[in-house]
Formats: sequence, structure tokens, C-alpha cells
Amino acid sequence: MKNIVITGGAGFIGSHVVRLFVNKYPQYNIINLDKLTYAGNLANLKDIEDKPNYKFVKMDICDFEAFYQLMQDEKIDGIIHLAAESHVDRSIKDPFTFARTNVMGTLSLLQAAKLYWESLPEKYEGKRFYHISTDEVYGALKMNHPEGIEPPFKTVASSEGHKAYGDDFFYETTKYNPHSPYSAAKASSDHFVRAYHDTYGMPTIVTNCSNNYGPYQFPEKLIPLFINNIRHRKPLPVYGKGENVRDWLYVEDHARAIDLIFHEGKIAETYNIGGFNEWKNIDLIMVMIKTVDRILGNPEGASLDLITYVTDRLGHDARYAIDSTKLQKELGWEPSLQFEEGIEKTVRWYLDNQEWMDNITSGEYEKYYEEMYKGR
Ligand code: NAD
Ligand code: TYD
Repeated sequence: MKNIVITGGAGFIGSHVVRLFVNKYPQYNIINLDKLTYAGNLANLKDIEDKPNYKFVKMDICDFEAFYQLMQDEKIDGIIHLAAESHVDRSIKDPFTFARTNVMGTLSLLQAAKLYWESLPEKYEGKRFYHISTDEVYGALKMNHPEGIEPPFKTVASSEGHKAYGDDFFYETTKYNPHSPYSAAKASSDHFVRAYHDTYGMPTIVTNCSNNYGPYQFPEKLIPLFINNIRHRKPLPVYGKGENVRDWLYVEDHARAIDLIFHEGKIAETYNIGGFNEWKNIDLIMVMIKTVDRILGNPEGASLDLITYVTDRLGHDARYAIDSTKLQKELGWEPSLQFEEGIEKTVRWYLDNQEWMDNITSGEYEKYYEEMYKGR
């Protein structure tokens, strides 16, 4: 493979994948295809934008004709598909946009790739369509150990004393059971990708990853939102009781997994990606408060008064926890960072990159945020 399109490359995870591929593979032509929605930001890629093996194309993944043309013009061999509407709260307000982009956009890419690859003498030989999905498609796990138990797995990503909050985990074989419009749309797109393999023989791969954190995440998501709000002494809106559990992975570890799976993963397989690193929201929020206060030189606990319990998210999934044993055993991937190191790096990055944050949080987005949180 030589000519590779990465969709959604101007977003959070996509920008880390683009950066990794552009720096690691000078022999590839990397095309970052992105519509630049509110979540897309070319400032995420300033450090690599002048590299000779990098090109940005502004395009909507729903534009079938334009993408089919691009496949032909650029002789695309590989697609790594990350473009999506990605925020659960927005999906609750506006599910149509999620169906359009996540379902129809993915289908449009699949169909264009099919037409182009089937027109070549070698057909699907050496081609690959790699779809990035989420663990949220599996639904929600039970919290049958609300106080936490010793986890059955130990990996680098989990810190000393970390806990599991239930007996069960998401496996590659877990039945899909999405609850939010976001996860329902992602689940649908996953099914279409697998259908293109099963029906037409397209070489596809799907991976399902847990919650990512790290630099360049849009500040409507929990971690960057709270770091920024602590800094500005704004309220920290904790949904419900803050008891929901998420499984966190440092974004560069996800990008490394994507690189490995794109090159060495088996066609038609699914791989779960995660670091066995479960956190109750409220415990994670305490870590963020402690870390930001320490770095800013505030007295310990100075920002605790910002915690504000607000109306819960509709249909709020109780617990996500990924079992990534298959990826670790079959392809030898493992996370590189412990959560304490990762969160320290992340907090420092947001505090050191206030201009990046201010460019996003001023203007249009500020109005949206006020509206979103009004009356919560
Ligand atoms: P993001 O919202 O930060 O970025 C999405 C990118 O897609 C943006 O650059 C946006 O401009 C682009 N985009 C949106 N609609 C588009 C369209 N119609 N055409 C072209 N580009 C479009 O999202 P993210 O957090 O980086 O997530 C990337 C992918 O990874 C998504 O598919 C998401 O479902 C998946 N994922 C995310 C997480 C997570 O924790 N963030 C975890 C697992 C999987
Ligand atoms: P989020 O970052 O939106 O990711 P996801 O919903 O895809 O897991 O939210 C992470 C968790 O934090 C989730 O349980 C919802 C909760 N949350 C809050 O309590 N307050 C907030 O302001 C946000 C954005 C999220």
C-alpha cells in the first residue's frame, strides 16, 4: 500500500493517526480528508502540514462523486476511516446528522472504494478498508461491584490499585446493543463495513476502542472540558451522581494500535482496543482537580467547589470496559503509558496550549456551550 486516505484527520484521534503515519512512513502519500466541521481543526496538524508526503483535502464523506473521483485520481490503496460525528450529547439533540455522516457517509466511502477497486486488474489485492469504531456499540455493562474489585487483568495502562466495577467485559464476540443515537449510528456503520466484506469480498477490518484522552481533543468531551473549566474557575457539570464508569486509553496508544492493525491485522477481523483502565467519572474528576491545582500552584482542593451535579444524560450508559486480550496476544500491542503519566501529560498540554483552546472556545462554540448546559 502506498496511497492512503485517512478520513477525519483534522479531528482528535485522526490528527494523531495522520501525524504518526506522515512521520513514520515517508514512502506513503497520506491524504487527510476532512469536512472541517466544528470538530475539525487544521491547527491540530501544524507541525506536519509542510511534509512532502502529506496532503489535505476538504471533503464531505457523504459526497460520493467527489470521493470516487479522488480514489481514481490518487490511486488509493488504503482507507483508514475515522470521520464521524462523535459526541453523545449532540447525538441526543440531533440524531439525523449522526445518521447522515456516520451511516450514509461510511456507506458512500464503501461504495466508491468498491467501484474503484473492482475496476482495477488486481481488484482487491493489496487493498484495505479499515473502519475505526467504538466500544459504545456493545451497549452498557453491569456495575455489579460498585465499590470496585481487583481486576482480572493487569496492563501498563492501569495504575496501581485500579479497579474493575463489574464481572463482565466487552469482547469481540459481545452482541451489539447500542443505546445512544451516536452508538446506534456507529453500530450501523460497522455492520455496513462487514457487509461489504461478506457480500463483495472487500478487505475490511473493524476496531472498537474505549474512551480516548490526550492532546487536541475537542473541549466538549469530559477531560478537556473539565481541565479548561478548572483553569477558568467555571462550574464542572457532573452528570447524575458521577458514578458512571469509562475505560480510558491515551490517544497515542490508540494511534499505535491503528498503525499495527492496518499493517498486520487479519482481514475481516474485529479487534477491541483498550488498556483495562476503568474509572468512575467522579474519581477521574478528583484526579483532574488535584493535577490542575498542583500545576497551577493553587492550594490543594481549591477547585473542589466547582463540582456541580447536574441532570443526568438521557440513557446514560453505566459502564464501559474493554477486553483487548486478542490484540495484545495476536499482534503484541500494549499500552505504553500508565494513567497517572497520561493524565499529567494531558493536563500540562492543555495548560501549555491555551491559545489552541481559546481559539476553539471563543465565539460560536461558547454560545453553543452556554445553550447546551442551560438548565442542566
Ligand atoms: P472528532 O469529533 O474529534 O473528529 C471527527 C472528525 O471528523 C473531525 O475532524 C470532523 O471535521 C470530521 N468529520 C465529521 N463529519 C464529517 C463529514 N461528513 N465528512 C468529512 N469529515 C467529517 O472525533 P474523534 O474523537 O477523533 O473520533 C474519531 C473516530 O474515532 C470516530 O469515528 C469515533 O467514533 C471513533 N472513536 C472515538 C473515541 C473517543 O474516545 N473519542 C473512542 C473510540 C472510537
Ligand atoms: P464523554 O467525554 O462525552 O464521552 P462518552 O460519553 O463518549 O463516554 O463523557 C465521558 C463521561 O463523562 C460520560 O459518562 C459522561 C460524563 N460527562 C459528565 O459528567 N459531564 C460532562 O460535562 C461531560 C461532557 C461528560
